[in-house]
Amino acid sequence: MNILVTGSKGQLGSELQELSTKSSHQFFFYDLPELDITSHHDVDRLCRELGINVLMNCAAYTAVDKAETDIDAAFRVNRDGSAVLAACAKEHHALLVHISTDYVFNGESSTPYRETDPATPLGVYGMSKWEGEERIREIAPSYFIIRTSWLYSAYGSNFVKTMLRLGAERQLLNVVTDQVGTPTYAADLAAALVTILEHYDPKRQYQETYHYSNEGVSSWYDFAVAIMDLAGLSCKVLPVESAQYPQIAPRPHYSVLNKSAIKKDWGLEIPHWRASLAVLLKKIEMSTEKASAETQTIN
Ligand SMILES: NC(=O)c1ccc[n+]([C@@H]2O[C@H](COP(=O)([O-])OP(=O)(O)OC[C@H]3O[C@@H](n4cnc5c(N)ncnc54)[C@H](OP(=O)(O)O)[C@@H]3O)[C@@H](O)[C@H]2O)c1
Repeated sequence: MNILVTGSKGQLGSELQELSTKSSHQFFFYDLPELDITSHHDVDRLCRELGINVLMNCAAYTAVDKAETDIDAAFRVNRDGSAVLAACAKEHHALLVHISTDYVFNGESSTPYRETDPATPLGVYGMSKWEGEERIREIAPSYFIIRTSWLYSAYGSNFVKTMLRLGAERQLLNVVTDQVGTPTYAADLAAALVTILEHYDPKRQYQETYHYSNEGVSSWYDFAVAIMDLAGLSCKVLPVESAQYPQIAPRPHYSVLNKSAIKKDWGLEIPHWRASLAVLLKKIEMSTEKASAETQTIN
């Protein structure tokens, strides 16, 4: 299979690049400025030139707060870009694998969200991602839409890296305790995507929406405490309510995802978020030690 990964320099795209070396498939990685998913002409040309069988969309406008004022840009990438990929998937008889978000939900549930629960996004980012999903359902003959939550990785900027930086600089941090969800290590999601690609039947048409996050439940406060704890940082984390820490975009108070369907259909075993956090922190520690050893050798 020839797989085109868009948004390849982001967190998830970068994790896929790491994993792709172990796959039997041929991966092609593209991001801005070489490939803009809103350009039908460019996506179509690449699909033709590379003989693409699978479009894996990791590209997105992910700046949740900025999206509230940068509305056109968010919809252009998350809705219109998704539609372009869906149209190209149709024209080239390719499978489209698309990543979406827990922010399509309003957070009023008190039990983990199922794929069939109604989407009622609170903010522009969530709405633009939801409309992107809907375009894919309308246009692409074969697709997987995989919603995930609270992504972090060694690549890009994310909550874990921010906490590590602030935790080293400060004695005290306030973190919200009334937003509950599940952190997801992008490397685990990338591994799940590769498993699906290894086992899907190219002769079949799929029209599936799935949920994938790590196992377990956490508030941002719990997550921050675990980061400080596992990283050995002495910074004290104080729980605060969202009202005391206003953010530009409204966020769901509860966005835990029910993952039964993806686990059952693809035989996935999903790690607990704390175990995966420990894996990432070890990886960061090892790369820091390696970089420091290399600096000492050069000196
Ligand atoms: N991050 C989270 O917490 C989270 C949570 C739930 C769901 N998700 C979803 O998971 C997926 C992967 O997220 P991520 O955290 O890996 O995102 P990310 O790190 O922000 O990466 C997205 C990549 O897409 C690129 N991109 C933006 N506009 C593009 C365009 N028009 N054409 C091609 N590439 C474009 C970005 O480039 P620039 O950096 O140059 O803009 C970036 O390299 C996204 O669909 C996101 O909505 C993320």
